[in-house]
Formats: sequence, structure tokens, C-alpha cells
Amino acid sequence: MNKTVIITGASSGIGAALATAFASKGYNLGLAARRIDKLEALARQLEDTYHVQVAITALDVQQDSQVAPALSRLAQELGQVDIVVANAGVTGVRRSGSGDIAIDKNIFQTNVIGAIATLDAATKIFLAQGHGHLVGMSSFSAFSPLPTSAAYSASKAALTNYMNAMRLELINKKINVTVIHPGFIKTDIAPHMDKYPFVIEADVAAQQMVRAIEINKANVIVPAMPWKAAKGLMKLMPDPLLAMMFNKMMK
Ligand SMILES: NC(=O)c1ccc[n+]([C@@H]2O[C@H](COP(=O)([O-])OP(=O)(O)OC[C@H]3O[C@@H](n4cnc5c(N)ncnc54)[C@H](OP(=O)(O)O)[C@@H]3O)[C@@H](O)[C@H]2O)c1
Repeated sequence: MNKTVIITGASSGIGAALATAFASKGYNLGLAARRIDKLEALARQLEDTYHVQVAITALDVQQDSQVAPALSRLAQELGQVDIVVANAGVTGVRRSGSGDIAIDKNIFQTNVIGAIATLDAATKIFLAQGHGHLVGMSSFSAFSPLPTSAAYSASKAALTNYMNAMRLELINKKINVTVIHPGFIKTDIAPHMDKYPFVIEADVAAQQMVRAIEINKANVIVPAMPWKAAKGLMKLMPDPLLAMMFNKMMK
């Protein structure tokens, strides 16, 4: 029987590219997001091209009580679920001291609470069936926080820590945990992503992510280079230099 993967935030960007990369390897798919029209179009395309089964559901991960029922619906329709990718996420730029924390709240509600609801619902399914693989879409900013994106960076650091704690807790339960830390990937998450340094296409990133999941990496940076080197280098840089570099980059 084909393996099955459920992906949240599958209507665009990395999520849609991951769905395509998994489908090209014969995985059946459960896709969730708010924009159901986009999911319908993607499902049709993947079924026609790769002859895999694709189930879809509308889901707003901020409605955390709706996450577990949505995952159960997909699992039931597909007959099994081997991997769940908590990918849905948003970003937002806010200057500290601007006095309006609505942007930060939205980021935490989606990237942290929405992801936790997804991972928790998936874990319940995996504990019952005795196996499974949890995957979370964190960010390189979990290691190297970005100015004007404090909430985003903090939300991803929270997700990374949360999942690394889950791995320890679930170590004897046959449940794998992979945390993915993308650098800059060309998607619609922020304007002008194509102008960011070392940016790569979503389909290239997705292929690397699928490989990392299949070999059960615990924590992975995508693409590995130059970001692995940058991680070490940035640790050595004094704050004024880091601030200058980021301010130039984010212009
Ligand atoms: N692109 C990058 O450079 C980069 C770098 C590091 C990490 N990431 C992470 O990668 C993940 C995917 O982002 P992306 O770059 O592919 O951006 P994207 O194209 O904007 O995709 C974001 C996805 O998340 C979904 N989503 C957002 N809020 C949601 C909600 N409340 N409920 C359900 N789904 C929701 C969106 O679907 P709907 O709008 O249809 O709901 C969309 O499918 C995010 O977690 C992001 O933080 C991206």
C-alpha cells in the first residue's frame, strides 16, 4: 500500500511543492488549507499526473478545535496516515514599540498554536496505530532572529523547541519527529521573496525536504548551504554587525 502524508498549508508555496514532491514518489495525500479552490485544483492536477489518491479539506488552523476532526476526516478517507506535516504558517513585519500587537498575535496563533494543534492531533492518531512521523515547518530564523520579525522568529524557535521536546517524549513510541528549517524559499509568504539572498525555488526545496523526511533527519536546514555555514558564522558576529547586515538585507 502507498504511504500517506497529510500536509497543512498545502494551497500554495512550500506546502503545494511538498505535495507535488511526495505525489511524484507515489505517496497518497491529505491536503488542508483555508483556500479550498486552490486545493481542489492541486488535487486534480496531482491525481491526473501521478495517479495517487488525494483527499482535501478546508481548515483554518487558528480554529484549533477543528484541527483534530479535519485530520481524522482525511485519515479516514485515505485509510491510513504515515506522515503529518505541520506546514501552515504566516509572517508579518512589525516594528517594536509600534503599539499594535495584532500582527504578533496572528503569527503566534497560526505558527505556534495552530502547529501544536496539528501535531497533537497527529500524535493521537500515531499513538493509536503504533507508528507515524511528525514533521514541522520551522525556519532558519529559529536560530538567527530577524529584526522587524521578532514574533515570526520567536514563533519558529518555539516550534523547534516544542518538537525537539516531543521527540524525546515519544522516543519509545515508534513516532519520528523531523523539524525543517528553511532559509529563503521563493513563495508568496512575503513580498519580493525573489530579492532575498540565497533564495531557492519551492520545488527544489521540497525535494530536499522529502529526502530529509525519508531518512528521518531530526533537525534539517534547507538548503544546507550556505545556511549551515551562516549559522556558525552568525554566532561569532557581534550584534551591531548583525543588525547592520539584516537592515541592509531587509530593505
Ligand atoms: N518561504 C520561506 O522563505 C520560508 C522560510 C522559512 C519558513 N517558511 C515556512 O514555510 C511554511 C509555508 O510557507 P510558504 O513560504 O510556503 O508561504 P505561503 O505560500 O504563503 O504558504 C502558506 C500556507 O499556509 C497556509 N495557511 C496560512 N494560515 C493558515 C491558517 N490559519 N490555517 C490553515 N492554513 C493556513 C496557507 O493557506 P491558506 O491561505 O489557503 O489557508 C498557505 O497554504 C510556513 O510555515 C513558513 O513560515 C517559509
